Amino acid sequence: MKKEWWHGKTAYQIYPKSFYDSNDDGIGDLPGIISKLDYLKELGIDMIWLSPVYLSPCADQGYDIADYYQIDPMFGTMEDMEQLLEEAKKREIAVLMDLVVNHCSDEHEWFRKACADPEGEYGKYFYLEKKKDGKLPSNWRSYFGGPVWEQIPGSEWYYLHVFHKKQPDLNWENPLVRERLYEMINWWLDKGLAGFRIDAIINIKKPQMFRDYPADREDGLCDMGTVLADTSGIGDFLREMRDRAFRPHGAFTVGEVFNAKDGELADFAGEDGYFSSIFDFRQTVEGKSVEGWYGARIPTMEDYKRCCFASQREMEGIGFYSNIIENHDEPRGVSYYLPEEARNEKGKKLLAALYFMLKGLPFIYQGQELGMENVAYTSVDEIDDISSKDEYQVCLAAGLTEEEAMTVVNRYSRDNARTPFQWNAKENAGFTRGKPWLRVNDNYRKINWEQQRTDPNSVFAFYQQLIRLRKNPEYQNVIVYGKTEPVREEEPGIMAYYRRSDKQTILVAGNFTQEERTLWIDEIDERSQVLLSNDKSVKLEKKRIVLQGLQVVIAVV
Ligand code: GLC
Ligand code: CA
Repeated sequence: MKKEWWHGKTAYQIYPKSFYDSNDDGIGDLPGIISKLDYLKELGIDMIWLSPVYLSPCADQGYDIADYYQIDPMFGTMEDMEQLLEEAKKREIAVLMDLVVNHCSDEHEWFRKACADPEGEYGKYFYLEKKKDGKLPSNWRSYFGGPVWEQIPGSEWYYLHVFHKKQPDLNWENPLVRERLYEMINWWLDKGLAGFRIDAIINIKKPQMFRDYPADREDGLCDMGTVLADTSGIGDFLREMRDRAFRPHGAFTVGEVFNAKDGELADFAGEDGYFSSIFDFRQTVEGKSVEGWYGARIPTMEDYKRCCFASQREMEGIGFYSNIIENHDEPRGVSYYLPEEARNEKGKKLLAALYFMLKGLPFIYQGQELGMENVAYTSVDEIDDISSKDEYQVCLAAGLTEEEAMTVVNRYSRDNARTPFQWNAKENAGFTRGKPWLRVNDNYRKINWEQQRTDPNSVFAFYQQLIRLRKNPEYQNVIVYGKTEPVREEEPGIMAYYRRSDKQTILVAGNFTQEERTLWIDEIDERSQVLLSNDKSVKLEKKRIVLQGLQVVIAVV
């Protein structure tokens, strides 16, 4: 496999609005990020992805862009962005921005012009259609609820939005649109970005606008997943974007790809793929339902293990997944995947080691390194996220009580991960001296960086050790390139695997039950050596390892 500059990196996702507020307006900002670069360095990070900071009316927290060439004043200025690039470079931290090109904002100049003259040049930048026989063009359901078609006020035209109605989809079939997007991407890469995380990209290719699919809820609409499954030809766009923008810059790109079809993995993430990497979402999708959140089932640790191994097998010999336990769209991993009795420091380290040591690029989402947890919202009014609000209504429409609906929403809400970063035990967790835009999690006095920083047994310290291990020249090759081989895969309560190269084998073994367990493993002998564990007592004996409840061990065997 051809070696690339990003292979050994550890990446970190910053949700700028909630990271650190430098000017007391309650909103995290670019100067705030700059002031915390040393923190990231201390953790060991060498690549950061910023969720969007472009000019935006913020209907979907910046994923609705009004101008790709401007920084939103709430985050700072273009000079701040340039300074961030410069300061990051000094610290050898690569910077990725979020590339949101499936749609823009309805406040983008292009869309304003399209509305003013639907039949003119800019009308062709979007998907504009009229009703047919009094019916909307198609019965597709937007991800945030309701039909994907919205009327342009005062006209007979409807525009397509697969997300919120303030996020009109850009017409990728129009070569002029593609040109303007590539020009923009190149402009940013020329500024010194290392690459992009690419938002919702699988949506850029649509099947025929006028095709209905069987309804899957009482609203008569169908899920976008069904629509996308019936679409082909996205590769032409993605290849072109790669060749025109990413490749000439040697950029690293990671795609938010949920619905790659069987056999397409190499096209997306192989050596000659459209992207450098794509996220592994298998475990986040597990248990989800077209009915919505109320019909979903939370995966167990057994499901988690099965998903991880399936993805590792699938990607072997092809490329690298980007591995996560959470992001700004998901609940906190420790609250979601760990069984209730394991939601403690030991369990958090267990989950950390199990995902971090998989083959691929580990992404840490801000606060994950402290073991930040979900929030118990008591009312939907405390929630900002548009998808949570929609899912709450879906619950009520399905006959759930308000209380039951809140339980469902709390389980999945995107606002679980969007609360301010917990820096210390002072007011507002030290995130701001103003009023935070979103409520700080009540547990900040217990879970915060200041308190973990000096504690050698903290979750933070454990993440530091994991990162250090990944960078240790003695093991780096096997940790980055070694094959993943499940060990005792059928054994319930245990998730264990080897990472193997020609010269070395590393064992990662975790026990997610509360009881002591013994694993018989032929490879273990007197030369085997423990590299890291979340429990001081490690029993590595000839041909066996004894794991305490919730213990994880990383050893070279
Ligand atoms: C992606 C983003 C999500 C956003 C959506 C629309 O899924 O991660 O936050 O709402 O795309 O841009
Ligand atoms: Ca601010």
